[in-house]
Parts: sequence; C-alpha cells; structure tokens
Amino acid sequence: MNTLSDVDLDKQTVTKVYARWAPVYDLVFGAVFERGRHAAVAAAERIGGRILEVGVGTGISLPNYSKDCRLCGIDISAPMLRKAEERVAELGLTNVEGLWVMDAEQLSFDDNSFDVVVAQYVITTVPNPEATLDEFARVLKPGGEIVLVSRVGAEAGLRRSLEHWFQPAARKLGWRTEFSFERYARWATRTAGMRLIERRAVPPFGHFNLIRFGKEGEARRILKARTKRAAG
Ligand SMILES: C[S@@+](CC[C@H](N)C(=O)[O-])C[C@H]1O[C@@H](n2cnc3c(N)ncnc32)[C@H](O)[C@@H]1O
Repeated sequence: MNTLSDVDLDKQTVTKVYARWAPVYDLVFGAVFERGRHAAVAAAERIGGRILEVGVGTGISLPNYSKDCRLCGIDISAPMLRKAEERVAELGLTNVEGLWVMDAEQLSFDDNSFDVVVAQYVITTVPNPEATLDEFARVLKPGGEIVLVSRVGAEAGLRRSLEHWFQPAARKLGWRTEFSFERYARWATRTAGMRLIERRAVPPFGHFNLIRFGKEGEARRILKARTKRAAG
C-alpha cells in the first residue's frame, strides 16, 4: 500500500518548483549527478536507435549521446525545456528530433515508438510513478529498454528516519526522499512483458540506482546486434 508521502506530489507544485529551478538547475545539479547521467547514457547507447528522454529538463545529458542516436525529449516544465532548446541550438545537436512540453504520465507517442526510454532523476518527482512506468512500457518497442537513474530510499535505519523527516521539505523542492526499490520490483512483476534486467548503485552518496527494465523481444534484438557486429 502507498503511504501518504508516496502520493502527495502534485503536477502543479512540480511545475511551479521546476520553473524556479530552471535558471540555476545546471549549476546546482550539474556536476553532482553527472556520473549517474553518463551511466544511463552508456546503458541506452548499448541499444541505440530512437531514444526518448523523459524529464529531459535543461537537456543537460543530450550532448553525451552519440550522434548515431536519434533523441526526443519531453518535460512538464516549459522553462526547463527552453534551456534544453537553447542548448540544442548552441551545440548544434542535429540528432535531436524534437523537444516537447508533455506529461510523462500521458505521452502523446504511439505504442512501440522508441528503442529506449530514459528517465534520469524523474520517477521520484512524478505524482504516479507506476502509471508513468506503464506509459514508458507502452511507447517502448519490443526488445527495447527502460533506463532509469533514481533515488532509492533506505529500507530501515537512520537514513530511513532522516528521509522520512526530510520528506515534507523535499516535496517543496520537487521530489520524494522516500521511495523504496520494492515499488520498482513490484511494478515489473505485475507488468506483462516487462522484466528487471539490472539494478546497481551509482554516485553520489550511494542513494541512487541505475535500473534497467527490458520489454519482451530482447533476446531477438541482442542476437541481431551480435550478428551485425560479427558481420561488420
Ligand atoms: C530532477 S529533474 C531531472 C532533470 C534531468 N533529467 C537531469 O538529469 O538533470 C526532474 C525533471 O522531471 C521533470 N518532470 C517532473 N514531473 C514530470 C512529469 N509528470 N512529466 C514530465 N516531466 C516531469 C521536471 O520538470 C524536471 O525537469
């Protein structure tokens, strides 16, 4: 069962909060989350193709992708997205197909549209994480992957108590501190065709995980990639 703190982030607050973060976001959260972002991009590039970045924010990780990947980005915050548009123009990122203001819980893309869906530091900021993951699975092609970097709350101990104590303040900043890995595991178990491929810690502080889910059909894709590599 969800606790109150699992459900009490609302989109209006999140949108307002990120409008305030937009001018200083890269300065505050650029370096600290860099290694997690690089790990997510490396995981996404193993599949490659057409990639959707959800909660793309200021587009801080867009230059990290290889030019062979076709990138689409969405975010609920127009001010964050404007920063991303400026970055794309300044750096001439011609592999970015488009950036749209859009809600992660209601993606306006067709089913099976993307080879990879990436969401970095996003799932703990959306009001309905499971509904959001359902959308990711829907727009993902068979054989594709969902790649997340996410804060994972402690199960017990001092950190668990601190996270519970800090939750009301964190909500005002636009995210949850309390979010158990169990929710991801439960989602994968109950979602037909999706399975957990990997979970590993990424810096900083050991509070974040890289999490990968695969959509049925993966074996075929890997085989295809291997065959291509062998031939080339
Ligand atoms: C912590 S920031 C992460 C930004 C970027 N991914 C990064 O690596 O720094 C969370 C982002 O998710 C966006 N976001 C929050 N809720 C969203 C929703 N329901 N739909 C789309 N984007 C959302 C916020 O506007 C913000 O840009």
